[in-house]
Amino acid sequence: MRVESDFLVIGSGIAGLSFALKAARHGTVALVTKREITESATNYAQGGIASVFSQEDTFEAHVEDTLVAGAGICHEDVVKMVVEEGPQVIHRLIEWGVQFTTSGDSYDLTREGGHSQRRILHAEDITGREIERALVAATRQDPNISIYEHHIAVDLITEAKVTRKRVKPNRCLGAHVLDIASGHVKTFSAKITLLASGGAGKVYLYTCNPDVATGDGVAMAYRAGATIANMEFMQFHPTTLYHPHAKSFLISEAVRGEGAILRRRDGTAFMEKYHHLKDLAPRDIVARAIDNEMKTHGDDCVFLDITHKEPDYVRNRFPNIYQTCIEFGLDMTREPLPVVPAAHYLCGGVAVDSNGESDIQHLYAIGEVAFTGLHGANRLASNSLLEAAVYAGRAYKHAVEILKTGKFEKPEIPEWDAGTATDSDETVVVSQNWDEVRRFMWNYVGIVRSNKRLERAMRRIKLIQEEIEDYYWDFTITSDLVELRNISTVAELIVLCAQQRKESRGLHYNIDYPERDDAHWRRDTFVKKQF
Ligand code: SIN
Repeated sequence: MRVESDFLVIGSGIAGLSFALKAARHGTVALVTKREITESATNYAQGGIASVFSQEDTFEAHVEDTLVAGAGICHEDVVKMVVEEGPQVIHRLIEWGVQFTTSGDSYDLTREGGHSQRRILHAEDITGREIERALVAATRQDPNISIYEHHIAVDLITEAKVTRKRVKPNRCLGAHVLDIASGHVKTFSAKITLLASGGAGKVYLYTCNPDVATGDGVAMAYRAGATIANMEFMQFHPTTLYHPHAKSFLISEAVRGEGAILRRRDGTAFMEKYHHLKDLAPRDIVARAIDNEMKTHGDDCVFLDITHKEPDYVRNRFPNIYQTCIEFGLDMTREPLPVVPAAHYLCGGVAVDSNGESDIQHLYAIGEVAFTGLHGANRLASNSLLEAAVYAGRAYKHAVEILKTGKFEKPEIPEWDAGTATDSDETVVVSQNWDEVRRFMWNYVGIVRSNKRLERAMRRIKLIQEEIEDYYWDFTITSDLVELRNISTVAELIVLCAQQRKESRGLHYNIDYPERDDAHWRRDTFVKKQF
């Protein structure tokens, strides 16, 4: 089966939906999402969206906080642009129906780690759910957007792949997409393709990301020949709930923003030892401090204490976190919450320019899948929804200009060839390899790395990839197999970038190079597939 559209959007979080809503004014949009439309990382974002909204705040201060968190390698021009376009894109979200929490006649602004001012707009502690609700409602009403739920993109279609020639520059023509229910791979042909498929937390054993975060966009773009950057910078969120059934439920940094204190089991507050901003230090520092405290004292977790605040205030400010913890038998108004760090946000990704376009023509990437230069070596809290919304607008404007040129002659795109593949009777191979990748990535390529650990991880990745490739061609593909192939590719890209960077900076800490080395490494790392 073949689907033709002007725009193909892969992913249904804030990035994909904002782009789709704008693009639909100029052409037809096919929106592909691998679960229900609401199942995206955006939907789970608790904290909020950072932007300069208060009289006391300035663009300069937001820029400076972003640069400090980014540890010397943010692209300053990008930071300035995103910060300055922030208020305007937030007003657009409000026009689409997003309701941020207010205080009197202005927006209630909260604080998170690394911010020198209160500048985070939020909707209670379920900001992402509110954004997703409003954007999904608008998307469903748009007659120019066709939504394909339970469809997972398998691979991008490029001119070089179709013609089997070295085309320079290469051009994206769409994607092959698996309809999960029927098992058929469909050909989605489009003039413009947008990757908005989110992050890759599922590469790690412990993550607060939803199950969909398997790095599909980064892996597909890499296989297609796009440049990928800064993959060593995986952000670990310092505080996810430590409970056997909580699936690393996030305890928002806004809880520390409102005064919560990190303590050891014996009640000692420890962040003062690590940074002058104490519990509101940048995230890399807090996560490493917790890791160090746990290892030094042999503890399984540390504790987040907000019991000194009025219980009613805590319940009203954090209704979702409060209620979820109650369901796990924990009352945060009366007892400190056990917390541990978990994989949270990928700062690297598909390298794009200031319009969100990759080095494959007509292929855009925005949101967590992209590397724009905004986050540097460590993302400032609540800058990600902002980045996605700003780049949705920029990518849309650029793509529409390209659409207007009308130059879209395409080579014949062949249908997906399943060859002689049969159904597998050994799906245990997939689940075994999933577990293995995620475990060694956690143990060897986690918060603290070493040369030896990175080598060990790479050896295992190579073995697993061989097995996956055999399996991939012999058996009919399933969404689990597609995701396994993607997480193993992303694991490889993280290790390749981590091995390049011979220093410690921001989220990348290697005990063999414990110092920051500005003379050699004040720059990004890149990987590109050689054909
Ligand atoms: C949080 O609520 O702590 C997450 C916010 C973010 O990662 O930007």
